[in-house]
Amino acid sequence: MNDNKNAKLILNNKEVELDVLHGSVGPSVIDIRKLYGEIGCFTYDPGYGATGSCESAITYIDGEEGILLHRGYSIDDLANKSSFLEVAYLLLNGELPKKEEKEEFENAITLHTMVHEQLINFYRGFRRDAHPMAIMVGVVGALSAFYPDSTNIDDPYERMVSSRRLIAKIPTIAAMAYKYALGQPFNYPLNDLNYSENFLNMCFSVPAEKYKLNKTISDALDKILILHADHEQNASTSTVRIAGSSGANPFACIASGIASLWGPSHGGANEAVLNMLSEIGSKDKIMEYVNKAKDKDDPFRLFGFGHRVYKNYDPRASVMRKTCHEVLDLLGVKNEPLLDIAMELEKIALKDEYFIEKKLYPNVDFYSGIILKAMGFPTDMFTVLFAVARTVGWVAQWNEMITDPVQRIGRPRQLYTGKVSRKFVPLEKR
Ligand code: CMC
Repeated sequence: MNDNKNAKLILNNKEVELDVLHGSVGPSVIDIRKLYGEIGCFTYDPGYGATGSCESAITYIDGEEGILLHRGYSIDDLANKSSFLEVAYLLLNGELPKKEEKEEFENAITLHTMVHEQLINFYRGFRRDAHPMAIMVGVVGALSAFYPDSTNIDDPYERMVSSRRLIAKIPTIAAMAYKYALGQPFNYPLNDLNYSENFLNMCFSVPAEKYKLNKTISDALDKILILHADHEQNASTSTVRIAGSSGANPFACIASGIASLWGPSHGGANEAVLNMLSEIGSKDKIMEYVNKAKDKDDPFRLFGFGHRVYKNYDPRASVMRKTCHEVLDLLGVKNEPLLDIAMELEKIALKDEYFIEKKLYPNVDFYSGIILKAMGFPTDMFTVLFAVARTVGWVAQWNEMITDPVQRIGRPRQLYTGKVSRKFVPLEKR
């Protein structure tokens, strides 16, 4: 919405009037699209902290208040009252599904969970000790070669089919990455299980022994997936959008999102948190690590703390913390030393002037690893689980981008600081 209250910018005696656009809630944006054309300068915003890259109606975050809404519904309500596939439908379609819509969507996802049998050959090309995220990047990218029939991005039906294929197949691909590392046979998906049960079964069932499904565990996994489903224009989602803006097919775009998610500042933080807690090892060493994190000359950071947008408790972290206690109680884990260290670390950091002043609070990754570990997942699978969940958000954002009439190829400019026009020097004169 533009209410004609424009911004004025004066540079080198030239004045430009810029529109101010307002969303339904949240800060307004200054539309700078004509800036270069009218006064010949770009804006400079490394890390895009002050840049809105697109219009979106999917997810809203108020970082100061610690609010996260998907299509207007609070993350707390969704995590406690909904299911992952219902949230997936909501993110993709804008509304919670009615009964028949829910059934149709869940059936469609269930029917696409198997992967092309030849995809198995890709796994065999990886070393057994390959990081499962490396396998994910490769295998998801390869999907475009297996399902070329749904890569026409201009056809809404094909976009829908490829979106559903991605959401349906990603748990199968992830579970296969896990099984490959263990040297165990791959499990086929089972159509009578729900999304989270199916994933647990594909990961933990072996031909010699059936996996005993536990509703509290599968519900907790479903909640974890909901909490990671989307988070507006984060690094991996922006990567998916930029990749897709050139017209690349959705499988390739999601593979690029997985690559971006892998970094420890983003989705890789859940793995890094657990490694950090193990390295701390005991409560008496916590202060040593807190001091390291505060030391300007030490690059170490407390993983699971801080967020670009949240300057308050990450609302996902509160749900995760509670779920963590529930899962450990259910599994009868009376004493989990890593949880004790995590809780003490949280207590110390939240009282520390450095963390208070910089508004560094626990984020979604702080407690998720402890739950996943208790469920039986090894640390290098944590970010894979994040990727399984976030595929829904990536796909929803990719679809929104494709249908956005103002969308153009993503092509930022730069502040050039290199050499200015030099004469070529022949080799013998260098
Ligand atoms: N430990 C110690 N200091 C920190 C931390 C931390 N975890 N996070 C930020 N800071 C300090 C940082 O050194 C800087 O200090 P100064 O102003 O003195 O230079 C200040 O806080 C602002 O940090 P920043 O790096 O400018 O903030 P950012 O918005 O660019 O980075 C972040 C956000 C999430 C990358 C960062 O907080 C971080 O590295 N956290 C640890 C990794 C992590 O937990 N990531 C998961 C994020 S949530 C899930 C997801 O997005 O995937």
